[in-house]
Amino acid sequence: MTNEAEAQQRIDQLRRELEQHNRLYYIDAAPEISDREYDTLLQTLEDLEKQFPMFESANSPTRRVGGAPLGSFENVKHSVPMMSLSNTYSKEELVEFDVRIRKLIPEAVFDYILEPKIDGVAISLRYENGELVRAVTRGDGAIGDDVTSNVRTIKSIPLRLSDLMPPAVLEVRGEIYMDTAGFAKLNADRQDAGMEPFANPRNACAGSLKMLDSREVASRPLDAIFYATGELSGIKFETHEQMLLSLKNYGLRITPKYWLNDKIDDVLERLDELENMRHEFPFEMDGGVIKVNDRRLYDDLGYTAKSPRWAVAYKYEPEQAETRLHTISIQVGRTGVLTPVAELEPVQLAGTTVKRATLHNEDEIRRKDIKIGDRVIIEKAGEIIPAVVKVVTEKRTGEELDFSMPTACPVCGSEVEKREGEVALRCINLQCPAQVKNWLTHFASRGAMDINGLGESLVEQLVDGGLVKTPAELYALQKVEVLGLERMGEKSADNLIKGLEDSKNRPFEKVLFGLGIRHVGKGAASILASEFKNIDALMAADIQTLEEIHDIGPIVGKSVVEYFQAPETREIIRQLRAAGVNFEQTETGGSNELEGLTFVLTGSMESMTRDEAGDKIKARGGKVSGSVSKKTSYLVAGEAAGSKLTKAEKLGVTILNEEQLIALLGSDEDLTDKKAGQMGFEF
Ligand code: IVH
Repeated sequence: MTNEAEAQQRIDQLRRELEQHNRLYYIDAAPEISDREYDTLLQTLEDLEKQFPMFESANSPTRRVGGAPLGSFENVKHSVPMMSLSNTYSKEELVEFDVRIRKLIPEAVFDYILEPKIDGVAISLRYENGELVRAVTRGDGAIGDDVTSNVRTIKSIPLRLSDLMPPAVLEVRGEIYMDTAGFAKLNADRQDAGMEPFANPRNACAGSLKMLDSREVASRPLDAIFYATGELSGIKFETHEQMLLSLKNYGLRITPKYWLNDKIDDVLERLDELENMRHEFPFEMDGGVIKVNDRRLYDDLGYTAKSPRWAVAYKYEPEQAETRLHTISIQVGRTGVLTPVAELEPVQLAGTTVKRATLHNEDEIRRKDIKIGDRVIIEKAGEIIPAVVKVVTEKRTGEELDFSMPTACPVCGSEVEKREGEVALRCINLQCPAQVKNWLTHFASRGAMDINGLGESLVEQLVDGGLVKTPAELYALQKVEVLGLERMGEKSADNLIKGLEDSKNRPFEKVLFGLGIRHVGKGAASILASEFKNIDALMAADIQTLEEIHDIGPIVGKSVVEYFQAPETREIIRQLRAAGVNFEQTETGGSNELEGLTFVLTGSMESMTRDEAGDKIKARGGKVSGSVSKKTSYLVAGEAAGSKLTKAEKLGVTILNEEQLIALLGSDEDLTDKKAGQMGFEF
């Protein structure tokens, strides 16, 4: 393309297209193209922008992450102050809130709108003529920090509003949060790397936003939901609901659920309903916010010094429980990190029985002054992993014992070390059975090599019996050796050998994920596989090449380079290759009989998991989406299908049961090799 006018047009069109697909992916959860197609579009745009630098634009989809690390954040004054909400834990006070409002505006007829109170970090985004110009934290409410370069890395936040006639000024306020699953993974990775874990998703989110290098922020699983406005010019909203729906139309994410009710009693009931759904949201929710829906009443209701009179936050009691800490045991992880774990008297918490809680590391035990035999308060941090919050010191009897970390690895007896700058203790023995077992279990797991017949207990036996020390040695296993193991019959032994044989043909991205390179999850493995195509190219890559790849950050880059530099690694790769394991991306020539069809999977199936069904659909060219819309071709409903089924019925979407899906998928045989590159990128 040489013609400038043509190039400009094409660049503009690509930007709009990419923005639209971003929105379909992040806001509507109904992607219409594969990640690979998206990346191709992005690459085309990047190339054109390089060729025609005069059409560069700060808010191009190619420019989410960029610029050198900042020295510090600038202070910015909010043009409309960021207020806070009055809080209560009592339903009586909510009734009083209602009485107060009705006294202030006796004539008015209005609804309340109830939405979840998200436990994250408040943010204000300013869009001028549809372009994101600034993102500022709340700070003290009057002045906050300019964190624009960090916020731009959050993919669900549009850099341009999706509207051809956007308002002159639109300031939206909301909450940045770290999704609960992403938080759990981030903490696990930090622990593996010997770093201090975050206490909860909110701290992790706040810590991420404060980082001065936006390239690192880009690797953190941050997201945002918007629920209020600041300065507005050229636009007006009559109700809160209308405002929310407009934000959604602009491509901003809003609460996945809200309720409208005119009576406070009904609102109170909805609050219980919301609390029961607490764990279904991908974010931490610490209560509900009740607002008057009619914004035209806000001036009459007015404000106190700190908060509006037309809204109130109802906070749920934190989900905590008290129990006794029997003892502290030590777990040794995949990278050799020793983690102290509290063994507890079983107690009910948030619907599950909790017997253990992580204590993270020795510093944390010191800080919280935890002793063996203490009564402790536990809480679910990030709703997933229970943690010990504090000791009930009043209940100490004097019989409690101090705890100190072992000076040798409890599994292999080797020395333990503390690396510079790390808080964790590590076993220095790379052949420590605990490390080897964790590594092999990961290698054999479903998302990786998916070795049929090789689960945790068999790994345990293989390692304890001295048969296997590395993934490569698995492939040297002979049937007779396997037969010598406990409870191992002829059939199971055959199964294992066949499982190992089958696993040699897994797509390159799965092999890469299975190697267990620190910080390389499924998503990064998939990107690396399609970028480098084979292990030799990847092993030869330097940090700069890696960092230039879209979505690969400096942490992953460094980890990959270090991993492949180690002579032990090179030896293992050599052996795996000699055993016949696939280290190349096979081009996708898979059958495409499901092309153009979009599936939504819900409920549980008998013969496969939803992930497996998804893989099979994708391998046949179909798309899998998270939510039902008019564009859904089929809803696959397993056991206990819920709201998605109802919605599909309402929209007249064709519903398939498990059997019908299997029939549609046909035979499996010809597909196993062709799946590479079609796996979805997991965020
Ligand atoms: S409305 C002028 N709605 O909770 C009032 N706030 O404790 C603007 N928050 O400052 C706030 N979820 O940071 C509102 N659905 C929601 C919210 C929410 C979380 C935060 C926000 C606020 C704080 C008050």
